[in-house]
Parts: sequence; structure tokens; C-alpha cells
Amino acid sequence: MATRRKGGSGDRDTYTKIEDPTENKKLLGPEQSYLFGNLLQIDDKSHLSWTKWSEELGAVYEISLGPMGKAIVLSGADEIAAAYGPGSENDIKFSDRWRPPILEKIGYAGSITWEDWLEGAKQRKHLLHEVFKSMDMEGLFKNEVDAVCEVLSNKELVDVCELLNQANNNILLSITLNRGDRYEYTDDEFKTLSEVILANNDRSLIGSPVNLMHCLWHTPFYNSTRRDLEKLKTTIQPYIDSHRADFDRENIRDLIDGYLGGIGETSFDVQEVIINISSLFPSACSLRATMQYIILFVISDDDVQKKIQEEIDRVLNDATEEYDEVLADKIPYINAVIKESLRLASPVGQLLPHCPIKDTKFEGYEFKKDTPIFTNLWGPNHDPENWPDPYVFKPDRWLDTDDLPTFVPLGSGLRQCGGYPVAFKALRILTFTVFKRFHLKSVEGEKLPTLEDSFMLAGTTHPNHFNVTATHRVS
Ligand code: HEM
Repeated sequence: MATRRKGGSGDRDTYTKIEDPTENKKLLGPEQSYLFGNLLQIDDKSHLSWTKWSEELGAVYEISLGPMGKAIVLSGADEIAAAYGPGSENDIKFSDRWRPPILEKIGYAGSITWEDWLEGAKQRKHLLHEVFKSMDMEGLFKNEVDAVCEVLSNKELVDVCELLNQANNNILLSITLNRGDRYEYTDDEFKTLSEVILANNDRSLIGSPVNLMHCLWHTPFYNSTRRDLEKLKTTIQPYIDSHRADFDRENIRDLIDGYLGGIGETSFDVQEVIINISSLFPSACSLRATMQYIILFVISDDDVQKKIQEEIDRVLNDATEEYDEVLADKIPYINAVIKESLRLASPVGQLLPHCPIKDTKFEGYEFKKDTPIFTNLWGPNHDPENWPDPYVFKPDRWLDTDDLPTFVPLGSGLRQCGGYPVAFKALRILTFTVFKRFHLKSVEGEKLPTLEDSFMLAGTTHPNHFNVTATHRVS
């Protein structure tokens, strides 16, 4: 029997009891149609459907994906912690990926994100982390945030979403193929790479008609997708070739170098880097969406912005000093703002689809091998039992709360986000630096987007566009 702590509400000392896992329980599901099961009832923001159904069906239930078979939905904080708790038996059991059939057409072989949790996927994720270690990630984020600040400084009105999209693309290009350097936002090469790599990311993978009728892939409807995939290969190939020419094993500058060098005795086919670059971009859309939400929430509440700036002024010795990661533990309020933004916006409303590696039992339910598991983060992150006023931005709720095993905005365990070692660093550098240098304000007469004013891109919720004006705090 497992017991886990709830949190975030002052009820930190209460414990939830999980029922006896040997018990046999039947998975319930919402009413479904004969041909398409529940497919046509699923909202574009599918986490909202998972949340709605969980109110009636509980934290673990079953849905039908029509011709694609059944899927399980996990929609409770305790169940999520039980399923993916690092080092737990379940974490290994649920570590494979379910892949929507369209991925067979687009290609996923060799990708960190979509491969099953076999030796190859482990090694590739390890490789990515080794590349992070060999690069100056802090310097890279700081350079990009400097460029963001320059735009804030020079333009009267700044479209924050657009600016952070560019910053995010640049960060990903630095990590993957630009040898740790950055492009100017006006650079044509930067524009082409961003466009080519992100092409097709606005298409839903799970909702693709190809999943139901595979032959559609060969129809003109998918001509442009097939062309985009070809273009991706021909665009990235010259970067692989030029890296080969000046490769130095002692100086791994980016992911392409990482692939050329391998790790230890393990080597990889460098051509795989193409699929990984294209699948890292949608993964990292979560970074840009989180950055956008942080700015949005902070400018929506003057008191929050003031508290951030008071904390900054407290930890710096003088106005010329800049953020350094040694300060990471000394900025509880900024860390709270970041966590609260990840909770309230839940930009990644659900984990990528997992599936059991074999027939197994979980909390008394039978799960069949290869059945997709959709894991809802949005529902638990807005559960009023754990988070009083769940739709209100309250960073203070984090100040006396330790990290909670039930709050996993980047997933946890074996399939935890591949960007985990660097994502919070990037968010701290951005939040600290921008609000150290500027006071940001919304534009008079322009309504800021609410949580509902959002759209999905690459499985991540983004706020609709909004503008800010920036005033220098220190010269
Ligand atoms: C705040 C920013 C980010 C958030 C909220 C986020 C969130 C997530 C989540 C929830 C998952 C799914 C985990 C699962 O299925 O169990 C994931 C997977 C992944 N993310 Fe992130 N992510 C962020 C930034 C990044 C960045 C910057 C990168 C790369 C540079 C990245 C690379 C990946 C990869 C490779 C995976 C797949 C891991 C695997 O399948 O083992 N992410 N991310």
C-alpha cells in the first residue's frame, strides 16, 4: 500500500491512501459512438476532456479511440506520482511510448522522444545530457536573454510571444546545430531554419486522419507534409557535413558534434540527428510557452512584479551585478513565480503518451501491453482540493512548500523531460534578468489574454499574442 503527500494548500501533512493494488477493478469509460468511440468528443485541448471525464469517472478510466483501440487516462495527482515516481517499479512498466500511426509515416526511428525505452533511447537521452554538460548553457541562455532585453529596450511596443518564439528557436538552434552561437533575429538563415524545422508542428499528431486511414498519407492532402520532411533533411544535411569538417572530439559544441563523437564506446548514426532536431523543437515549444506565461502573469499583477524586483535588489550587491546560477537557491520568490506559472498555465497539459511494456496491474486495474496511457497534468494542477483558488495566480502558495512528488510539469522518472537539466535554469535567467532591467507593463486599452485565450501548438498551450512596454529600472 502506498501513501503519498498532497500539497500546495497548507494541508501538507495529510496523506492519501491508495487502494490495495491486488484488488480487481473495472475500468469505466464515457459513453461512445459505434464507429469512432470517443474520438470525436475529444477537445482540441485534450487535457480539458480528460479533466471533464475524470469528474464523473475518477482518476483512472478508459476511453475508446475508435479504430485505434482503447486508451487509459490517468487523471489524479496521486496516481501520476504512483505511475512515474522515479525508481518505482511502475515507472519502468510504463516507460514505453505509444505512437499515433502517423509517426510511422513521418518517421520516429532514432528519436529520443518517440522511441520505446530500450537501450537506444536511454543512450540518446544520455547523449543529449552529455551535450548540455559540455556546452556553456548558462552563457547561452544569458546571451539570448540579452538579445531579448535589447529588443525590449529599443522598441516602444513589443509583441512578447513573437519575441520569445524567436529566442526559443535561437536557443534550440544553438544547442542543436549552431555550435552554441546565436543568430541575429533578422538573419535570413535563422528565419529559414526556424520555418523549416517548425513546419507542420501545428498539425495534431493524435488527431491526424492518417491514424484512421493510413492510405491518406499518399494523397495530395499530405503532399506539403511530405515535401516539408524532404526539405528538413536537405536543409540540415549541410550543417552535418560542415560539422564533420571541423569536428574536434575534445570540444563538443552542439548536438551534431555529440552525435559525431558518440558517448564512451557507444556511437550513433549521425543522420539520426535530423529526426532528433525536428522532435526537440516541438518538445521545447513548452519552454517558450512557459516563458510567455511567466511574463503574462507577472505583468497582470503589479504586486508580483514588485516582489520579484525587491528580491532581485536584495540578492544583488549593486546594480551592475547580473544574475548567476549560484543565486538559484537565494531567489525563492522567483522560483515560486516559475512553479506557479507552470501550475496555473500547465502549458504541457498532459504527458506524451506512455504505454505499458507488458500486461500489468495498476492500482487494481488491468492494463494491457501497448495500450496508450494519456496522463492528465491540467486536472491535478487545478484540483481545488490541492490548490485553493486553483485559477488564481498565487506564487506565495509555494513559499513554504517543498517540491511535491505530485507536481510534475516536466514529467518524472525515466521519461522525464529531456530538457529538465536546463529548463529551469533558462526560466530563472529570463525572469531574473528581464525584471532586473525593466518594469514591464501591458498596453493601455489592450486586453491581456486569459487562460482561455490560448491555442495549441505541438501539444503545448500558448497564450494568444499580447504586447508590452518596457521601462528601464537601472541605467
Ligand atoms: C519549461 C519547459 C519545458 C516543459 C514544461 C517540458 C515538459 C515536458 C513534458 C511534460 C514531457 C513529457 C514527459 C513524459 O512523457 O513523461 C517532455 C518530454 C521531453 N522534453 Fe520537455 N519540457 C520543457 C522543455 C524542454 C526543452 C528545453 C527540451 C530540449 C532542449 C525538452 C526536451 C524534451 C524531450 C527530449 C522529451 C522526451 C523525453 C523522453 O521521451 O524520454 N523539453 N517535456
